[in-house]
Amino acid sequence: MALKLRRLSHALGAEVCEIDVSMPMSEAFFGEIYRAFLQYGVLLFRDQDIGREQHIEFSRRFGELDRHDALPRDRHPRYSELLMVTNEPKPDGSPSDTKYTGRQWHSDMSFTTAPSLGSLLRCYAVPDVGGDTLFANMYLAYDALSDGMKALIAGLHGIHHSGTRKIANSESGVPRADEQRRLNPPVAQPVVRVHPETGRKALYIGEKVKRFDGMTEEESKPLIDFLVRHATRPEFVYRHQWKKNDILAWDNRCAMHQALGDFDETQLRHLERTTVLGTPSGYVVAGG
Ligand code: SIN
Repeated sequence: MALKLRRLSHALGAEVCEIDVSMPMSEAFFGEIYRAFLQYGVLLFRDQDIGREQHIEFSRRFGELDRHDALPRDRHPRYSELLMVTNEPKPDGSPSDTKYTGRQWHSDMSFTTAPSLGSLLRCYAVPDVGGDTLFANMYLAYDALSDGMKALIAGLHGIHHSGTRKIANSESGVPRADEQRRLNPPVAQPVVRVHPETGRKALYIGEKVKRFDGMTEEESKPLIDFLVRHATRPEFVYRHQWKKNDILAWDNRCAMHQALGDFDETQLRHLERTTVLGTPSGYVVAGG
């Protein structure tokens, strides 16, 4: 069976059509999916009305799965391979810990020394309108920089922090943010990362980066802001409008993403994510 692909945007992304990811799949056929994953950076599988075990099983084809020890509060109570992204209040009525997950431009687990290879996010419920996710192609963003800027950032390391601004500021998010900081000291990552499989250079930056190693926040901020703004120009971005039972798989080594909060918070937005472990990158920075 040949893979049927439909491109999602000029920048990145393709839909894999007419597929049920829970069906047995030969190595050769999965190899075609993986090649498309490397080529398009984001793959969409629609209408995947499958169970949690099947989501986990399909994700394992991409590599070993993270058990999310860095984010213990965010795990599914029964499946540590699943990270919850939900605004559904807890059984005691208090706000969900993961209500604001992903609300900054980021690449998953960049604040660890084994940042993720890729993520597979399954949609259970979305609001009537809004709650989309944006993806930026970081190869294109790097390629479009001037030679002067490429030379300037070549040796820089950005210091990545865990947590999100919004949850850190909300009352319910304080214990979680404290726990995340304790478990995850800041990690410096190269601003230009060579993709371990394609060999291409990609920008590796985002809104979790507070400063460059060896520089102050004040010195770093203008360049961080420029690089994030540059990488997220509309021509480098795909905007995904979720439907129930979508699974999106993305390559964290060459794409960053952001969840949008542009929806009615009284409506349910519930997604669950597996996170595929990547190769070692970066180093811990004492004191951040
Ligand atoms: C994430 O950052 O993994 C979550 C993205 C989303 O909720 O759209």
